[in-house]
Amino acid sequence: MKMMIMGRMLLCLLCFVALVYGQASPDMSIMIALRDSLKSENLNWSDPNPCLWTGLGCNTISQQVTRIQIGNRGISGALTSDLRYLSSLTVFDVMGNNLTGKIPSLAGLKSLEKLFVNDNGFTLIDSEDFFTGLSSLQFVNLDNNPLRPWAIPSSLTDATSLAVFSASNCSLFGTIPDFHWRLRFPNLTALALSGNSLEGELPRRFAGSSVQILTLNSQKLSGSISVLTQMPALTNVSLQENRFSGTIPDFSPLMTSLKLFNVSGNRLTGIVPSSFTGLTSLSHVDLSNNLLQGPTPSFKAKGITLGLNSFCLDVPAAPCDPRVNALLSIVGEFGYPVIFSESWKGNDPCNSSNMWVGITCTGANITVINFEDMGLTGIISESFGRLKALKVEGRYPNFKPNVVDSSGDPDVGNHVPRPAPGSLGSSSRKNAGKIVASVIGGHFIRTAYMG
Ligand SMILES: *[C@@H]1O[C@H](CO)[C@@H](O)[C@H](O)[C@H]1NC(C)=O
Ligand SMILES: *[C@@H]1O[C@H](CO)[C@@H](O)[C@H](O)[C@H]1NC(C)=O
Ligand SMILES: *[C@@H]1O[C@H](CO)[C@@H](O)[C@H](O)[C@H]1NC(C)=O
Ligand SMILES: *[C@@H]1O[C@H](CO)[C@@H](O)[C@H](O)[C@H]1NC(C)=O
Ligand SMILES: *[C@@H]1O[C@H](CO)[C@@H](O)[C@H](O)[C@H]1NC(C)=O
Ligand SMILES: *[C@@H]1O[C@H](CO)[C@@H](O)[C@H](O)[C@H]1NC(C)=O
Ligand SMILES: *[C@@H]1O[C@H](CO)[C@@H](O)[C@H](O)[C@H]1NC(C)=O
Ligand SMILES: *[C@@H]1O[C@H](CO)[C@@H](O)[C@H](O)[C@H]1NC(C)=O
Repeated sequence: MKMMIMGRMLLCLLCFVALVYGQASPDMSIMIALRDSLKSENLNWSDPNPCLWTGLGCNTISQQVTRIQIGNRGISGALTSDLRYLSSLTVFDVMGNNLTGKIPSLAGLKSLEKLFVNDNGFTLIDSEDFFTGLSSLQFVNLDNNPLRPWAIPSSLTDATSLAVFSASNCSLFGTIPDFHWRLRFPNLTALALSGNSLEGELPRRFAGSSVQILTLNSQKLSGSISVLTQMPALTNVSLQENRFSGTIPDFSPLMTSLKLFNVSGNRLTGIVPSSFTGLTSLSHVDLSNNLLQGPTPSFKAKGITLGLNSFCLDVPAAPCDPRVNALLSIVGEFGYPVIFSESWKGNDPCNSSNMWVGITCTGANITVINFEDMGLTGIISESFGRLKALKVEGRYPNFKPNVVDSSGDPDVGNHVPRPAPGSLGSSSRKNAGKIVASVIGGHFIRTAYMG
């Protein structure tokens, strides 16, 4: 109590002094409260006029505080909750200190352009309305703070001027919101959200965004990465150490700026498309620790890491055995399920010391392809449903449910055009729901197409 009274007396005295000298900053009381809350031995904040304090900038006419730049000064203590009333503030930079407690809301500071609170010990953020009204905000860094888990708030969409948003290693959870990224943040060039606990898929409405640097590594993100092909400005993509699945999508040759592409440590499957390996802008590619299949891709660039995948051979661009190609075409129709890419290693589907799941051989010939009980979801079981329906037609007397085999009448193409040899499965959902047969590399294979 005594302290408070003394504090107030001091405040009045300072007001008085400031008035006498005509120097009063209207933000003085807020700044004095901040000074008292920070342990700022390293700051020389003693002058009665805060506009003369180290690391502060003021508007020369209004004397309002426009800049607080006290990064990397070994300051500890906490911030005060009324900083949101510094109505002319454009830069707030306290990065690299030892600050704790709450990152107070700065909602409503429509002049604020830069917010750097990264590399501190903050444990709380006023998350829900944190970005409300911050329409000038361009650069944000919240990295490396031990915050209590928080989600990206919808108020972020107020920050339409965003250029760089970095919130890595600061306890974000939940999903990356499906904002209309392109329309909401037309100037966003860097989005870094790595090392959090984010999960779910990449938002589909990343499509068309201007983001160049996308850093989302080391958390629990999953699903397809195909939306990347609709982000033409991308230069650096870091998606490593997540749970992404599906294939490396077809990239347009118009993606001329992609340099770094790291998807190491995911569950990507399928064949690496030549539209990707052919991108001439690539300088660093890391595809290691996935389940990629087909031939080892061949890149022109030097900084390529491909280790630990399911490629058929180690030599770049060496073609796979025709039986491998045929089988990959079949599972390609199902989106290259992980169950096959985990099991189908090497270049010999009939290697007796390395059984390929779902495949039965006689000698070097594949005689049965059986996708039963593969734990495949949705679309696969639906296709088996169709197969059963076909059986009801009675055209294929020896056809067993959930099994495609080579016994029985090979002449199944009555109402189905047979694919050309070597093209098995490579195409055409025209053949939806039909059973076709073909001879691949001297080996007889029959498969099912789904619709
Ligand atoms: C602190 O700032 C005042 C002016 O506000 C200056 O006169 C003084 O020399 C400074 N002291 C140090 C140690 O920097
Ligand atoms: C931050 O605080 C901790 C413990 O209070 C101390 O060990 C550390 O040196 C401080 N770091 C800086 C940069 O002041
Ligand atoms: C993550 O942030 C914590 C502080 O919350 C820090 O100690 C740690 O070094 C950071 N990790 C990385 C990889 O930067
Ligand atoms: C985006 O940047 C351009 C050019 O710097 C600027 O004119 C425009 O106002 C910015 N748009 C937004 C929404 O900030
Ligand atoms: C983007 O990747 C290139 C390497 O291909 C690297 O030189 C550059 O520093 C990266 N830029 C950023 C901002 O990470
Ligand atoms: C890709 O990420 C992995 C795993 O974090 C890392 O070891 C590797 O150095 C990165 N590669 C490139 C080219 O950045
Ligand atoms: C068959 O599989 C074994 C065990 O994976 C492997 O050592 C061997 O090289 C394979 N043989 C051929 C011909 O691929
Ligand atoms: C494998 O298929 C070829 C061509 O159809 C046939 O000549 C050969 O006898 C088959 N081998 C076995 C072990 O079934």
